[in-house]
Amino acid sequence: MDIRFEDKVVVITGAGGGIGNAMARGFAADGAIVAVCDIKGGDKTVEEIVAAGGRAKEYILDVTDIDCAHRIMGDIARDFGGIDVMINNAGINVGPDKRQFTDEFDDEWWDKILDVDLNGVYNCTKAAVPYMKGREGSNIINISSVVGMVPFRRQCAFNAAKAGVINFSKAMALEFAEYGIRVNVIAPGSVCIPVTQTLWTKNTALEGLLSHIPQHRQGSTEDISYAARFLASEFASYITGTVLNVDGGWICGYARDF
Ligand SMILES: NC(=O)c1ccc[n+]([C@@H]2O[C@H](COP(=O)([O-])OP(=O)(O)OC[C@H]3O[C@@H](n4cnc5c(N)ncnc54)[C@H](O)[C@@H]3O)[C@@H](O)[C@H]2O)c1
Repeated sequence: MDIRFEDKVVVITGAGGGIGNAMARGFAADGAIVAVCDIKGGDKTVEEIVAAGGRAKEYILDVTDIDCAHRIMGDIARDFGGIDVMINNAGINVGPDKRQFTDEFDDEWWDKILDVDLNGVYNCTKAAVPYMKGREGSNIINISSVVGMVPFRRQCAFNAAKAGVINFSKAMALEFAEYGIRVNVIAPGSVCIPVTQTLWTKNTALEGLLSHIPQHRQGSTEDISYAARFLASEFASYITGTVLNVDGGWICGYARDF
């Protein structure tokens, strides 16, 4: 199975961050032209891709701003002729210091998280779809989380937003099949990115976390990149409306003896 995206236009939001950067580098290595969209930090991703001989362009995009989403998707389509793959990856969550039960949860953080993690998917998808119609193999991948299916305590907004992304994606899969556009979800477990690396090494909770994961390790950003490239490829052409957990088996059951 030789996955290639030669000359396909792949848009990735949050592509300046850990998982977005790995996906952008991976798609570019497979021949894609990558539109690196982020509110900040996309220039580093573009530099890495270009240094490796790939093609990428940075776009400053705030996914919470629908006008900005329409403008940027229009710019990308004008620059490269259309959009083949749309990956809604931008996301935020509260840090450990802000984690509270719902009755104590910070209202501003509720709004911020829902705005980026759920409204952002709506805004960018709505803006991208007109440029995806009629392009063979076009598809959308939304990055949710295992918490979209099995919630954690003290993270009500992230739980709600990521669950919303899953059901919303299934609804879009039903609709956009009419346009020949597939829609799928990746639900990462705990993925090691620079920010969480610091969190986990500072915090002895790592062992506790890993004891719940059957494979006893965190995922890498490459694990998510491989999954995205499979789902976006022609080899997944009969897959739509699905959720692919990339979580080391974390939510398939209880890794416990009772
Ligand atoms: N790392 C994990 O363990 C993990 C687990 C489950 C799900 N996820 C999901 O994976 C996705 C990527 O997260 P990550 O781990 O790479 O985190 P990250 O913080 O490294 O990357 C997120 C990126 O989103 C960008 N962003 C934030 N707000 C934005 C906005 N309004 N508009 C545009 N871009 C914006 C940030 O600048 C950042 O570059 C997120 O949706 C996250 O919820 C991550």
